[in-house]
Parts: sequence; structure tokens; C-alpha cells
Amino acid sequence: MKIKKVGVLGCGLMGSGIAEVAAAAGHEVVVREVSDELLEKGRGRIQRSLAKAVEKAKLDPEARDKTLGRIRGVIDLDELRDCDLVVEAIVENLEIKRKTFAALDETVKKSALFASNTSSLTITEIAMSTKRPDQVVGLHFFNPVPRMRLVEVVRTLMSSDESVERAAAFVRGLGKEPITCRDNSGFIVNRLLVPYLLDAIRAYEEGVGTLEEIDKGMQLGCGHPMGPFTLLDFVGLDTTYSIANIMFDEYREKRFAPPPLLKQMVQAGRLGKKAGRGFYEYGDR
Ligand code: CAA
Ligand code: NAD
Repeated sequence: MKIKKVGVLGCGLMGSGIAEVAAAAGHEVVVREVSDELLEKGRGRIQRSLAKAVEKAKLDPEARDKTLGRIRGVIDLDELRDCDLVVEAIVENLEIKRKTFAALDETVKKSALFASNTSSLTITEIAMSTKRPDQVVGLHFFNPVPRMRLVEVVRTLMSSDESVERAAAFVRGLGKEPITCRDNSGFIVNRLLVPYLLDAIRAYEEGVGTLEEIDKGMQLGCGHPMGPFTLLDFVGLDTTYSIANIMFDEYREKRFAPPPLLKQMVQAGRLGKKAGRGFYEYGDR
């Protein structure tokens, strides 16, 4: 069964990117947010991303308009009832995700596939809030979604072969590369990336170097496109803090424990680039 209509839950950093790439690949997209204001903000993010692609001559204006025309923003969950696939990209919080999936299960047609873009929760604990755990997988996209080529396709003990194959085919249709992983917190990439990012904060707390020096070290010394603090700001410090807490709870290893400075940054509202201020300042964004 080919996936035609795609629902996206959340139009934040990740949901806006997922809605954009799905629409660019020709899918009809319905994206759900909790308020008109947040929908507007998400639509602005999609417009800026498409404008950047036009500027770089990677997209023509006609394709941009067609992509935007395929995306409809909604508040009412019921508008997702006839989607073939729903990808969830809301806040990294188990209770909120479980409630949302339970409501989705009541609303969306029985044949639909459900996916979560969670960074660190297991798909199993999310899938068990539905009556169709065989049709729930992880689809873990990377930020910024229009630019990053990888998607982790996560299989649980309950996921059917058909669900995993449908999800991987959807990813290929977006022009991205799927890799299949087992349902362990952090999957493959975050299991390796998150301890590195947290360690950078610990190195800074210990006075090893300035933010700029540590960033430059990893950029020029290891060829990373972004240093760890630029990347932390880019991912969002609130999201990183939730991820660290979840992975620490799961593995009980110090390398996943959130450093005190990260907690304080979140408490102080310095959430990264999306908030205009994180480890660095971003003007009036
Ligand atoms: N949508 C949103 N932001 C975009 C974008 C898009 N389509 N394309 C680029 N960006 C952002 C960049 O952050 C930066 O922002 P501003 O211009 O607004 O300040 C700018 O666009 C730079 O873009 P350029 O195209 O000029 O830069 P570039 O070609 O050198 O590459 C990049 C940009 C692809 C983001 C590159 O820096 C990179 O690969 N960075 C590493 C990203 C990374 O590691 N992502 C994984 C994060 S972890 C994750 O996603 C998993 C998780 O669960 C937390
Ligand atoms: P974000 O804070 O930018 O966006 C989350 C959005 O979800 C917000 O706009 C919020 O209003 C909305 N929302 C909350 N509850 C909702 C609901 N019930 N229905 C619809 N919308 C709702 O967060 P984000 O960075 O986009 O992260 C979203 C998910 O993607 C998280 O699970 C995160 O771990 C994961 N993720 C994040 C990144 C990253 O780099 N930021 C990368 C990969 C995966």
C-alpha cells in the first residue's frame, strides 16, 4: 500500500522540516500544531527553508509554490483521520507522546502507519499506547531535515515486516537513506552523539577552553561541520536536556547524565538558536 497522504504532528524545528520534505516529494501533507500562532511560526520556517533552496538554485520558484500548496496546517486532530502515515514530532516527553498516540489511534484509519521522530524514548513504550503496535515504527530524521540525508528506521519487537518496509520505502521516496536499527534509547546516532555533546559541556565547565576554542577545535581538527556548542544551540538545549535525562534513566551511565550547566541554561530560558540565545547569541531571531 503506497503512502500518499502524510500527517505530521508538531510544526517545530523537526515537524516543519518533515512536512517540507514530504510535500517536496509530492505527498499531500496535513501538519498539526496546538495553536494558530505556532502553525504560523512553523509555516514561516518552511518558507525560509524553501527560499534558501531557491536562492541556491536547488529549487525553482514553481516547485517551491507547489510544495507550499501541498501543506495544510490544522489544529484539530480529526483532520488527520484519512492519512496513510502519521509522523509525530512533538516535544520529547513520554506522557505527552503516549496521550497523543492514544488519541491518534482512536482517530486515524486502521490501515495507517504511525511513526515517532523521538530522539531518545523507545518506540516500544510509545507503541503500547495504541491498539496497533505492529504498525508503529521509529522514523528518526536529523536536523536540518531538508539537508540531512539519513533517517533511522526503528523496528520494535512488535513492528511487522510490512510496516518496516513501508516506512523504509517512504524514506527512499523522500530521497533519503534509511538505516534500520533496534529499539534502544538513542538508536545508533544519538547513542554516540549525545555523550560527545554532553562531554563538550563538561570540558567547558572544567575550563579546558572557551566555547569558541572548543568549537573551532572540533571543526578544524576533526572536520565537523559545526562545533559541539553550535550544534547544541542548533538542536535546542531543552530538547538536549530531555534527551540526556531519558538516556541517563535508561542506561544509568555518567556519560548520558545532563551536566549542571545544561540544566541551568534551560532554567534560564537560553534554549538555543530557536530562542535567540543559547551558548551563543543570535540577535533578535
Ligand atoms: N532548514 C533550516 N536550517 C537550515 C537549512 C534548512 N533547510 N539549511 C541550512 N540551515 C541552517 C544552518 O544552521 C545555518 O543557519 P542561518 O543561515 O539561518 O544562520 C545556515 O542554515 C547555514 O546554512 P548553509 O547552507 O550556508 O551552511 P552549510 O551548507 O555549511 O551547511 C548544515 C549547513 C548542513 C546544517 C551543516 O552545518 C551541518 O551538517 N551541520 C551539522 C548538523 C548535524 O550534525 N545535524 C544532526 C543534529 S543531531 C539530530 O538531528 C538528532 C537528534 O535527535 C537531536
Ligand atoms: P520543538 O520544540 O522545536 O517543536 C515541538 C513542537 O511540538 C512545538 O511547536 C509544540 O507546540 C508542538 N506540540 C506539542 N504538543 C503537541 C501536540 N500534542 N500536537 C501537535 N503539536 C504539539 O522540538 P523539535 O526540536 O522539533 O523536536 C520534536 C521531536 O523531534 C522531539 O521528540 C525531539 O527529540 C525530536 N528530534 C529533535 C531533533 C533536533 O535536532 N531538535 C532532531 C531529531 C529528533
